[in-house]
Amino acid sequence: MNINEIIKTRRAIYPSQYEKGEIKKSFLKTLLKNANSAPTHRMTQPWFFKVYKGLSKDKLAKEMVKSYDQLNNENSTEIKKKKIIEKCKKSNCIICVFMKRDSKKSVPEWEEIAATAMAMQNMWLTCAAYNIGCYWSTPKYSIKMNDFFKLKNDERCLGFFYLGIYDHGKVKSKKRIPIEKKTEWNN
Ligand SMILES: Cc1cc2nc3c(=O)[nH]c(=O)nc-3n(C[C@H](O)[C@H](O)[C@H](O)COP(=O)(O)O)c2cc1C
Repeated sequence: MNINEIIKTRRAIYPSQYEKGEIKKSFLKTLLKNANSAPTHRMTQPWFFKVYKGLSKDKLAKEMVKSYDQLNNENSTEIKKKKIIEKCKKSNCIICVFMKRDSKKSVPEWEEIAATAMAMQNMWLTCAAYNIGCYWSTPKYSIKMNDFFKLKNDERCLGFFYLGIYDHGKVKSKKRIPIEKKTEWNN
């Protein structure tokens, strides 16, 4: 696929759409290498990742449920907790995404978040090119997981990247506002 086709075929593919099948470690290494090639102001390279595969996914799922409970107290529901566990089970791999401010705070935080999002886009497009299903989830309860991830004060979880095998023939594209309505041309 050329770059236009890859961008066009990229989709958020949710764990409910994943089928049984293994994502190879060699692919995950390529994915992370591509993430690491993202642009970054002043070369701060703020992103880092923690990969959960196999049994470690169960541990992660338990912690997600615990954090969801902590955040929502009496408003948490059994259905949502079941969904969290099911999503982790259906995924072959979950990559947790983090951002670290550089010690000099030489660029504003939004630029570090933007750089990490560009690393995520690199991963997302790589998945599209290799026909691997994935999506970026940013649940509120991730703020309660700092201890589990052993994060320092200047580090922040920016969500979870779920990955799985899927049948790309089944995925429909979503309707977008035409770019003509969002562009002002100046000559
Ligand atoms: C920063 C960011 C955060 C996202 N967080 C969530 C999320 O928490 N839950 C979710 O279902 N999708 C999430 N998504 C995926 C979007 O819902 C998805 O990209 C959007 O519906 C467009 O669909 P497409 O990616 O297939 O074009 C997120 C996407 C981005 C860029």
